[in-house]
Amino acid sequence: MKSLSTNGFAWFITISMLCLLANSQLTTNFYSNSCPNLFSIVRKQVLNAVKTETRMAASLLRLHFHDCFVNGCDASVLLDGSDGEKTALPNNNSARGFEVVDAIKTAVESSCSGIVSCADILAIAARDSVLLSGGPSWKVLLGRRDGLVANQTGANSMLPGPFEPVDNITLKFQAVGLNLTDVVSLSGAHTIGRASCATFGNRLFNFSGTNAPDSTLLDANMVSGLQNLCPVNGDSSRVTDLDWNSTDLFDNHYFQNLINGRGILESDQFLYSSDQAVSTTRSIVELYSNNTKLFFNDFANSMIKMGNIQPLTGSAGEIRKNCRVVNS
Ligand code: HEM
Repeated sequence: MKSLSTNGFAWFITISMLCLLANSQLTTNFYSNSCPNLFSIVRKQVLNAVKTETRMAASLLRLHFHDCFVNGCDASVLLDGSDGEKTALPNNNSARGFEVVDAIKTAVESSCSGIVSCADILAIAARDSVLLSGGPSWKVLLGRRDGLVANQTGANSMLPGPFEPVDNITLKFQAVGLNLTDVVSLSGAHTIGRASCATFGNRLFNFSGTNAPDSTLLDANMVSGLQNLCPVNGDSSRVTDLDWNSTDLFDNHYFQNLINGRGILESDQFLYSSDQAVSTTRSIVELYSNNTKLFFNDFANSMIKMGNIQPLTGSAGEIRKNCRVVNS
């Protein structure tokens, strides 16, 4: 009896250790033997794509975020299909860069077939995108495998929305193991990229369509330009820069913008200008607004944390041949 329970205890310890290991299995040198040129292959493709369209850096960065927050970083966001994540509200007519991911995958496959996951490609492409935009670099942890299912409901509920207050957004970050510092540092990704009228038009007019912008939260000098871009009943897919100060440059102007009431999304501006921000995010915004080094350092650390959300490792999932579909 005693030996059975001792045995049981030993098993319990072994299984617990394995579970812990499963979470820490990502390594920086995962492909160093199996695909030694991986980093240069991905870098070349990202560079090509960003040369063709500067905004692509932002789009690739966002894809990794939208992947990791739903089912963990498992490339579920890349799966085609009407019940996939691509057609969930935060992604529909908004998430982009899928063709670039295809091109990277094709290039990687031609050197090392069946080795590198689409989830890892997203993580490397996000890092390269930030670096090529002038931001920090970091050592990307690798070894994720690709998921077998998408989760449209999860994409609708887990991803933060542009009308949400600080506390809601913080809860969504906490749900995937990220904290308040991560909320603010990762929001700094909005130093690059664009937002469509659909995501901030509500701030420009009151419900009767007359000029009644949210004057307390939005710099008055920005209002008429944005109203022209996004008239009531206009084309909600038109876009503006998330950072009017230095559009495609990855810097800390996003935080300076918030202090000046120049955040485009209401959720961005809330990080500085809401009651909830006072005891939470506001002081971190202030810190980053005058300390680029601190922002870059925290952003890199938070990206590594985000990239660690529930990876599939070992023999879980698969290495997709085509990032858009599970293997047959
Ligand atoms: C904190 C909560 C967040 C909210 C509410 C939010 C919301 C949004 C919205 C509404 C857009 C515009 C989409 C469109 O109009 O098509 C956007 C764009 C973007 N977001 Fe976020 N986001 C958040 C956090 C993040 C994080 C954590 C990252 C990456 C680490 C990120 C990266 C980006 C980038 C780079 C763009 C521009 C994409 C492009 O130009 O294609 N966002 N975000």
